[in-house]
Formats: sequence, C-alpha cells, structure tokens
Amino acid sequence: MKAIRLHQPAGLDCLTVADLPDPGQPGPGEIRVRLHASSLNFHDLAVVFGYIRTEDGRIPMSDGAGVVEAVGPGVTEFAAGDSVVSTFFPQWLDGEPSTPVGSFALTPGDGVDGYAREAVVAAATAFTHVPRGYSHAEAATLTTAGLTAWRALVVSGGLKAGDTVLVLGTGGVSIFALQFAKAMGATVIVTSSSDDKLERARTLGADHLVNYRRHPEWARNVLEITNGRGVDHVVEVGGPGTLAQSVRAVRVGGHVAVIGVLTGVEGPISTQALLSRQVRLHGLGVGSRRHQIDMVRALDTLPLRPVIDRTFALDDIADAFRFQQAGQHFGKIALTI
Ligand SMILES: NC(=O)c1ccc[n+]([C@@H]2O[C@H](COP(=O)([O-])OP(=O)(O)OC[C@H]3O[C@@H](n4cnc5c(N)ncnc54)[C@H](OP(=O)(O)O)[C@@H]3O)[C@@H](O)[C@H]2O)c1
Repeated sequence: MKAIRLHQPAGLDCLTVADLPDPGQPGPGEIRVRLHASSLNFHDLAVVFGYIRTEDGRIPMSDGAGVVEAVGPGVTEFAAGDSVVSTFFPQWLDGEPSTPVGSFALTPGDGVDGYAREAVVAAATAFTHVPRGYSHAEAATLTTAGLTAWRALVVSGGLKAGDTVLVLGTGGVSIFALQFAKAMGATVIVTSSSDDKLERARTLGADHLVNYRRHPEWARNVLEITNGRGVDHVVEVGGPGTLAQSVRAVRVGGHVAVIGVLTGVEGPISTQALLSRQVRLHGLGVGSRRHQIDMVRALDTLPLRPVIDRTFALDDIADAFRFQQAGQHFGKIALTI
C-alpha cells in the first residue's frame, strides 16, 4: 500500500513515499476504506512544516474520502461500495465537546496516522456517508473546512435567512462559510487581500467585498455597509490580528465564531468592547460526528458544491503544500489518491 510519511524534523523535504503493509480486513465494528482523496487545511500545513510536532514517520492529512471495500462484524451503517468521508475527531461522536481544541491526540494526520495513503481499516464511527453525487475530492473537503464553517454558522450561530455574515479571507473555511450563508438566505460580506479573489467570491454570491490590504480598518467598511448596525455573525479565522476589528464589526449582541490562528495564537482583547457590545464569542474546534451527519444531510438538499481551486496527485503532495503556503489558493486544494 502506497502512503506518504512525514519524518522529523519535518518540512517538505521530510515527506517520503513509502510502501507499507496492507491494513488487512476489518474486525468487529470496523470498515476497510479504499481512500481516493484528501484535502489540505492550515492544520495539515502546520503538521507538515513542523509547527505542530508529530511522531517520526506520521502519515499526514486529516481529511480522507473513498469507498468502503469491506465491513466487519456488527457494522450496519455502511456496506461495501458506499462512499464515505472521515471525521476530524473520531472520538467525538455526539453531544458537548470533551476534548480541548489543542488536543489532537486522536486526530488523524496529527496524533495518529492520517489519510495520505491508499487504504485504511478504522472504526466505522470514524467515517460518515457523503452527500449524494459528491466526488471523492469534494467529499474530502468536508471533514475539516466544511464542518468548521457549518458548525460556526449553523450550530453555534443559529444562522437564519436575513442574517448578515462576515467572512475573513478566501481560504477553505471562509469560502465554505460564504456558500452555506448564501444557500441559507443570508447577506455576506467577504474580505480578501486580492481583488481577483473578491471577484471570484462575487460569482459565488458574495454581496459586499472589502480588500483588507487597501482598507486596513476594514471594520469601518463593514459598519458602513450595514448602516452602522454591524453583522450578525463573524467567521473569525484571523486570530489576534483581526479579532478586535471583528468585535467592532459585529452588531450589539452578535456572534463571533473564534476559529483561526492565521495571525498568531494570542494577543490583547478589549473586555470593555466585548461587554459594551454584549458580543457572544465562541471558540470552537471543527465538530462532532453528529454535526457532520447533520451537515451531510443538509448538503443533500442545499445548492452548493465545494470550491476546489487545484488538485494534486498524492505523489505531488509537497507541491500541493507549496501552493497552499504561497497563499494563492481560493477555497480548497485537493489530493487524489
Ligand atoms: N478551530 C477550528 O476548528 C478550525 C478548523 C479549520 C481551520 N481553522 C483555522 O482557520 C484558519 C483558516 O484555515 P483554512 O484551512 O481555511 O486556511 P487557508 O485555506 O489556508 O486560508 C488562508 C486564507 O486566509 C486569509 N487570510 C490570511 N491572513 C488574513 C488576515 N490577516 N485577514 C483576513 N484573512 C486572512 C487569506 O485570504 P486572502 O488570500 O483572500 O487574503 C488566505 O488565503 C487557520 O488558522 C486554521 O488553523 C480552525
């Protein structure tokens, strides 16, 4: 079985193609999946470049999609031939989160081996079905980016038609958030460093566009666009470099889903601004299997398909990460296996 391994001290030169033993047949409660696709997230980039330390020889990639080849005794949810997609926290099936976001001990591609490989045998509960008609590459984008956007807006935010949503940048999570928000009847404001990317966002339905390079005080633009009211939801992927403006851009009593670390992992925040605007900040990490099942059901009916900017072969995984690191992508980058 072909697989990619990441050796320490990490970095693109430390990715090797390996021939590993076949994972064999599924035991009780397990399924065997022939993996056909994965997709790149900021988290995978952090693992591959060594910003997050993993064990020597780790198989990277948290997202995995493919076809069930065999089911073990007791598995009734899946049958051979089903298309499936992996979950980010295989241990978090339902209910309230019990694992801190910083703990990726059981997350594939981090604490345990991931999906940059041809086949896996895993607990059936580490996968869900995929939306009808999705390609493997489209399905693979759901594990991390899709579910994070869904949880931010729908689970945490209670998004409803008529709401106004602000998404920061045009990466994987933000483009999914734009698509979910538009499909569910919201007005969407998108920021980006690139006018070309903003125009691409417009073709996906974005109502208002702000270049955050040209308008470093972009919260002002958002307040102008919303006639001083502010937005109902911010999908906050920036972190300390953007949070203060996100709090300024949200309406009194509005919701900021604190998701990303693109500008770092800590910084000052005005508690006065939070209190006086009665802002609801919710730090969140991807979602549970139940959230993913609900999202897949929604995607069976919502008129949206994941935006995949470029697709690379598994052997070219280093080129895929170079492309991601260059920041030229819009939406998702996929790997075919
Ligand atoms: N908490 C969670 O569960 C969770 C889950 C998934 C991701 N995340 C985090 O969310 C963040 C985004 O992840 P991703 O996979 O979507 O990343 P990605 O696809 O690599 O997106 C990167 C994009 O973010 C935008 N960006 C960078 N700096 C920005 C800034 N200062 N202000 C506004 N936008 C900025 C850029 O958009 P433009 O090129 O348009 O400027 C860039 O292309 C990462 O920090 C990741 O770790 C968290």
